[in-house]
Amino acid sequence: MKPWEKPRRLPLHVAIIMDGNGRWAKKRGLGRALGHRKGVETLRAVVRESSELGIGVLSLYAFSTENWSRSAEEVGALMGLLLEFFAKEIDALHANRVRVRILGDVEGLPGPQRDAALAAMARTAENAGLQLNIALNYGGRDELVRAMRRLMRAGLAPEQVNEKALADALDTAGQPDVDLMIRPGGEMRLSNFLLFQSAYAEFLFPGTLWPDFDVDAYHHALDAYAARERRLGGRKEHGGE
Ligand code: IPE
Ligand code: IPE
Ligand code: MG
Repeated sequence: MKPWEKPRRLPLHVAIIMDGNGRWAKKRGLGRALGHRKGVETLRAVVRESSELGIGVLSLYAFSTENWSRSAEEVGALMGLLLEFFAKEIDALHANRVRVRILGDVEGLPGPQRDAALAAMARTAENAGLQLNIALNYGGRDELVRAMRRLMRAGLAPEQVNEKALADALDTAGQPDVDLMIRPGGEMRLSNFLLFQSAYAEFLFPGTLWPDFDVDAYHHALDAYAARERRLGGRKEHGGE
């Protein structure tokens, strides 16, 4: 069954730019690291809900190629949280048949984070439940460059380069395009996330800061998505009622 034919028209692929942790902390007079820690709690709740709802793919933007330019202290805190996340959550994710995939340049991560990321991917590789993409050291332009290099290394002739070949060389190879892109925190920009995959995505920019984005807010977003009319370039929605 196509996603838009499901009772509530759930998106098959949801992407979330988890933004606003720093502002959340600042509002409370706390350090940014505490905002990120609170953000991980939101992440866990949204992953669990997505898994229970039967969302196909959930892509979470956790650390961009541009985020290295933050202070050493903040980058260190984020890298620490990352290790903690993998150590604490991987058993439960695996038990729930979640498959973890890392989007981004894994080789560019510090050793311990890279090892934890690769181990999480390997351990959950056969799981057929929620496909959880965690974008780490990810940039949409960097992903496209890495994809082009893959195609060139594979020796494709110019005529063999088409949209399908390019899509299959991206970090999201084999997954459907993004249906719903949510950026909490109030900023209305993509910040280099999933440029190719969100060509026809529906966009939502709730003002709620990520640490305050709860399961209710997530359901609001899914309801808003269900109410959108997607034309996909044609005049009527595919499979229109
Ligand atoms: C998003 O929150 C988390 C990461 C970028 C890792 P921010 O840290 O960007 O929080 P704001 O946008 O400064 O509030
Ligand atoms: C985007 O948020 C990156 C992540 C959420 C990981 P940023 O806070 O880094 O983006 P800008 O700087 O507002 O564009
Ligand atoms: Mg931000």
